Amino acid sequence: MRHGHMAVEEGVGMKWHVMIMLWPYFLEFRSRVFLAMGCLLLAKVASISIPFLLKDIVDTLDAVNQNPKALIVVPIGLVLAYGAVRFINVLLNEFRDTLFGRVTERTIRRISLKTFQHLHRLDLDFHLDRKTGGLSRDLERGTTGINFLMRFMVFNIVPTLVEVLLVVGLLFYNYGIVFALITLVSVICYVAYSITATEWRTRFLREVNEADSATHSRAVDSLLNYETVKYFTNEDYEAERYDSELAVWEKAKRKNRLTLFALNSGQAMIIAIAMTSMLALAAQGVANNEMTIGDFVLINAFMMQLFIPLNFLGFVYREIKGSLANIEKMFDLLARKPKISDTDASITLQLQQGRIEFDNVSFHYQEQRPILTNVSFTVEPGTKVAVVGESGSGKSTLVKLLFRFYDTIEGKVTIDGIDIRSVTQHSLRQAIGIVPQDTVLFNNSILENVRYGRPTANDEQVMNAIRMAHLDQFIQDLPKGVDTVVGERGLKLSGGEKQRVAIARAILKAPPILVFDEATSSLDSKSEQAILRAMQEVTEGYTSLVIAHRLSTIVDADNIVVLHRGQVVEQGNHATLLEKDGVYAKLWSIQQQEATILEAER
Ligand SMILES: Nc1ncnc2c1ncn2[C@@H]1O[C@H](COP(=O)(O)OP(=O)(O)O)[C@@H](O)[C@H]1O
Ligand SMILES: [Mg+2]
Repeated sequence: MRHGHMAVEEGVGMKWHVMIMLWPYFLEFRSRVFLAMGCLLLAKVASISIPFLLKDIVDTLDAVNQNPKALIVVPIGLVLAYGAVRFINVLLNEFRDTLFGRVTERTIRRISLKTFQHLHRLDLDFHLDRKTGGLSRDLERGTTGINFLMRFMVFNIVPTLVEVLLVVGLLFYNYGIVFALITLVSVICYVAYSITATEWRTRFLREVNEADSATHSRAVDSLLNYETVKYFTNEDYEAERYDSELAVWEKAKRKNRLTLFALNSGQAMIIAIAMTSMLALAAQGVANNEMTIGDFVLINAFMMQLFIPLNFLGFVYREIKGSLANIEKMFDLLARKPKISDTDASITLQLQQGRIEFDNVSFHYQEQRPILTNVSFTVEPGTKVAVVGESGSGKSTLVKLLFRFYDTIEGKVTIDGIDIRSVTQHSLRQAIGIVPQDTVLFNNSILENVRYGRPTANDEQVMNAIRMAHLDQFIQDLPKGVDTVVGERGLKLSGGEKQRVAIARAILKAPPILVFDEATSSLDSKSEQAILRAMQEVTEGYTSLVIAHRLSTIVDADNIVVLHRGQVVEQGNHATLLEKDGVYAKLWSIQQQEATILEAER
């Protein structure tokens, strides 16, 4: 492509390799593509013959004019042929679009699905860093890009160039070198100008796109935080921030529009000059009796036919370029390697007993800030191990490591002695059930949200899990019962209700290992006791890891790990830890006092 300073500066040329990436998707519908090409070719033949028919009609009419006694049948036949060819031309183009549409849609479907699956494969960090609004916009642009590219690359650019060559050849054959040269030179000027001007405009278009994404992200983020906005009465502040993004977008749009004006007027000028000189020459020819009026009409028709598709060239070139860039962005997303991924050597975790061991584990999210340092503890099969510690001490991080959302920096996590890095993520996560600290629900009914724990479960099994999680009482009070829709991210439920949905999910999943991350933190003591009993029934004989902030819930644990600033400071059961009179004993006495105060207030 062009190597002007702009292209170099932007570092973006035409991304032809994207076409190659799309190629395999074409092959799925080989015969359709082939047929569509056939339609295209026939349509071109029809459209090239139209000016010739027109010329014949005009010349015949002219002859009739000069000799009124001549038969009128001939022009009528030609006129009918003219109409028929026009109709066939349009029809063939419609056939082509219909045939090829299927290929485009299937390609979009395949690639969208692939991207979606890949997004789920990418690591947690990627998603935490991403703005969902912007990401969905990228996806949308990618698919629109494919649609555009398929329609215009195949059916606009290539055929138009072929047509130009044909017309130039025909003009040369019929009217000599001058006409052919004017056409060729003007088309070359036109194309060169369009491409140069479009390259120059790309920068402004990108500004528009960036402003568009930023505006969209801002709006989504603000609306997701609806409640927070209200709590702090920051509607005006939000509106101002949104409007400042909109202002950037507006300015970018204006620049974009002005440059479009420059592009279009330049193109129009080249066309006008070419048309005028061709028609002047033709008029001269007619005046000199070297050409017929029919020739004049034919040349005019050819020029019109040629420049109408070229008129879109700037637009099409830019859009194709944009499309290629957008599709590439999507392919980039697809090519992005997840930080955590299975290898060919990954084995399926086959749980024997379910013995979990954190072996000298150190971890940080960012280099500068260690979160866990040399953490070691074991959860023996069938036992309940609790992890306690103040907020921010790294308890939930332990869970994320166990689920392998992140890999340890040092040390290893093993299950039944097998390093979890050597098993497939699917089999690892399948073996563990979790009631997370913050449960986010799908905007669906309670029934379906619980069923998410095991999508194949039948209604009865789901209802059973609901009962075991003590959700049934709450559901009885709801007018719509289990069919109540929970609102976006489950915001229509209270914290405790959400936790119970999460518990029901875990019960339904019934994995050999259970993890509770402050699973009862949003419950009052009475519900907590009820659920603890339920949990005890469920976890009977299971291996469980319980992260607790209320120590009363874990007094029965077989082992209690006390975490302080990412380090294990004490370990043992309730009685031994109290005897030790260390961190745990201190925490315990504080919480006991609180409990007495609460009791007294009641
Ligand atoms: N994705 C992340 N990136 C950077 N820091 C994080 C991330 N997740 C958690 N942290 C930090 O790690 C520390 C431990 O978090 P966490 O394990 O959730 O603590 P808790 O013991 O309360 O469950 C916190 O200080 C938190 O700010
Ligand atoms: Mg936590």
